[in-house]
Amino acid sequence: MAEKIYFGSLKGGTGVTTVCVGLGLALADSGERTLIVDGDVTAACAMTVAGLGDYQVYTLADYEKGACRAKQAAFTHPKAQNLSIMPATGIKDLSVIKSAVKEIEGLYDYVLLDKAAAESCDLAVAVTEPYIPSLKSAGAFTAALSDGGAKDVRIIVNKLNGGQVAAGEVLSAQQISKLLRVPLLAQIPEDCTLPAGRWKQSTVAAFKVAANTLTGKKCDMYDVLKGYSGFNGFIKRKLRERI
Ligand SMILES: Nc1ncnc2c1ncn2[C@@H]1O[C@H](COP(=O)(O)OP(=O)(O)O)[C@@H](O)[C@H]1O
Ligand SMILES: [Mg+2]
Repeated sequence: MAEKIYFGSLKGGTGVTTVCVGLGLALADSGERTLIVDGDVTAACAMTVAGLGDYQVYTLADYEKGACRAKQAAFTHPKAQNLSIMPATGIKDLSVIKSAVKEIEGLYDYVLLDKAAAESCDLAVAVTEPYIPSLKSAGAFTAALSDGGAKDVRIIVNKLNGGQVAAGEVLSAQQISKLLRVPLLAQIPEDCTLPAGRWKQSTVAAFKVAANTLTGKKCDMYDVLKGYSGFNGFIKRKLRERI
């Protein structure tokens, strides 16, 4: 049976889909058979974030109409064979997601549910940015997840800028976890190349650490402050003050 992990947020744009794809690629790279279910019925974009926007693919809407099997609605990444993505664009009945997952979850080690089928998950993860509106919404969201019966709730702090943390402009991931009283699963650095479809090495490394944490491999937590200590860090901080 696959471990099913729900990822969500109340506020839009915190990076739920990006986190699912980054983590999915990292898990797949570690040999874990991983399925991402993109639950956005109006504009599922996990395929685009994974660099597969131009590929023709069956979606869950075809499965709903009976035009394909659940397995066919899961598109295998050509460069990461352990990763499949199943977009929900156009489905009319949300219960279709649950039945499709049930049909094929045996083929995977991990199913990452991007704002889909929260009720069937083993672990629920709220994705938050380190900014105040996002934190307020993450607090409400994690409380709602616990009230809704989720037994294991954690947070991922995304878009964390080491320079801002070092300057005290935003809270660190650990401070956010303490404030929200929710265990920290991972911190992902701000990566200004992501909106253009690229992934910095440091971002890939942060997702690798997150994947190791999930699979129970021993590793140090990724630290966005790493480049901001010592002499180089001092120069970096000073330069930042001047810009
Ligand atoms: N770590 C990050 N650093 C910088 N930009 C990011 C990061 N994660 C996501 N983004 C950007 O934020 C925007 C929203 O991301 P997305 O994953 O679509 O959010 P959601 O699924 O929560 O709506 C996108 O433009 C994406 O490239
Ligand atoms: Mg999304």
